Amino acid sequence: MHPLLEKEHQQLIDLLDALDKCISKGCSANQVHKYLSDFVALAEVDFSNEEAIMQTYKYPEMIDHKKEHADLLEQLFVLKNRLDSGQAPFGKEYMQILRKWLEEHLLAADKRLDKFLYQVNAKCNKTAG
Ligand SMILES: [Fe+2]
Ligand SMILES: [Fe+2]
Repeated sequence: MHPLLEKEHQQLIDLLDALDKCISKGCSANQVHKYLSDFVALAEVDFSNEEAIMQTYKYPEMIDHKKEHADLLEQLFVLKNRLDSGQAPFGKEYMQILRKWLEEHLLAADKRLDKFLYQVNAKCNKTAG
């Protein structure tokens, strides 16, 4: 895995774990909000870093991968707005949705990108050697 992306992905997973724990313990709405804001901010950073890498290496699946990012961010913003406006408490069901999308994206789209980068790298090393 690309070291920067690996670090960001671990941070996203850690934040979700922290949020999960916080909800199970029944922490305050403010705390939940803080975790969720951090999660959204970090997801945005991760997505834009990946998109820059895809652009640089002319990744063939870039359009689809970017669309997945945009859809995920939209879902996060909807969720955050609901919390902001006090329309809904952040419950376990949201936690499951977040975890599911994160894991599905990391294990599918991001994994394919990683494989592609690995192959590009291997090719470069061969040419250089
Ligand atoms: Fe990612
Ligand atoms: Fe991604």
